[in-house]
Amino acid sequence: MDRISAEQLPEVIALATRAPSIHNTQPWRFAAADGVIDVYADRGRKLPVVDPTGRQLLISCGGAVCYARLGVRAAGYAVRVELLPTPADPDHLARLTVGDPLSTTDDERALLAAIPHRHTNRLPFEDREVPTALIAELEHRASLEGAWLRLIEQSSDQMTTVVLLSHADEAQRLDPAYREELESWLRFDAGAADGVPATAVPHVGEGAERRSAFVLRDFDLRGEGALPIHGQQVERPVVVLLGTDSDGPADWLRAGQALVHVLLRATVDGVAASPLNQVLDIPALRTQLRGQLHVMGFPQMLLRMGYGREATATSRRPVDEVTIDR
Ligand SMILES: Cc1cc2nc3c(=O)[nH]c(=O)nc-3n(C[C@H](O)[C@H](O)[C@H](O)COP(=O)(O)O)c2cc1C
Repeated sequence: MDRISAEQLPEVIALATRAPSIHNTQPWRFAAADGVIDVYADRGRKLPVVDPTGRQLLISCGGAVCYARLGVRAAGYAVRVELLPTPADPDHLARLTVGDPLSTTDDERALLAAIPHRHTNRLPFEDREVPTALIAELEHRASLEGAWLRLIEQSSDQMTTVVLLSHADEAQRLDPAYREELESWLRFDAGAADGVPATAVPHVGEGAERRSAFVLRDFDLRGEGALPIHGQQVERPVVVLLGTDSDGPADWLRAGQALVHVLLRATVDGVAASPLNQVLDIPALRTQLRGQLHVMGFPQMLLRMGYGREATATSRRPVDEVTIDR
């Protein structure tokens, strides 16, 4: 029988590493052989201050699982994904088992083609509506992965989100441990293989005009953000909440798969996004957001979406650094 070759497995892993991750920590490891790809958490890359439970670490790894799944489909094989396949080992996050040859669909091809163009985009977005049909499609994509996506539509809900997000952002700015941790993941060297580079960070500066009521995480701690912002428009982004019905490790992995599926589908239509997760980092504010927006499940990612100039790619660690023997 035709089987995936040993040479194709590193290509799948290379693709998986293109997934987004919190602070570009890339908190994953892979083991691949004989048509099986295992995904493991790399807890040494956890962010103890902003993510003590590892929720966002698992969302990040869920994204890598979805990218790996697409990688196997790109190679022309069916794939089965099992989450948390070893109950005794909570770091064994997923097992992908490659199946029989199966042609890639047009939709999968479109998502795969979007991967090199999907970047977290912190630039101001254009004053242009994201079509409601696309939002409906993104809701559908999230549901395919066992998550949900909700547009923050009503002005009272938007106001609630703006206020809680601002409180979270302020609390974090005033927290030396938060700032120290964030600073340790900022990169000013073009050769760095992880972390958030200055080229992905808008320069905030003294007295900078507030472009949006939805405040972005301020990575520009040193005032060396190098992402040039043109134009002075005040943006009105579309803001969506991605969540799950329950709130455990499997849900976080599903949220990560949903996140990247949604981001890639949006990229296909030229729509970019960046997370506004400060409000979800702080448990009390996450609970408040959930209550005040009357959310039945658990918020996992808050995203702003819109049209704008394509952002640049961030670095990834090479495949051999993230590959382990099983
Ligand atoms: C779980 C998770 C949380 C994130 N939170 C934020 C955030 O609050 N603010 C932000 O600007 N980017 C956030 N990001 C985006 C990462 O910084 C980004 O994915 C990483 O730097 C790699 O860049 P790329 O997405 O352009 O490939 C988050 C990503 C993930 C997966």
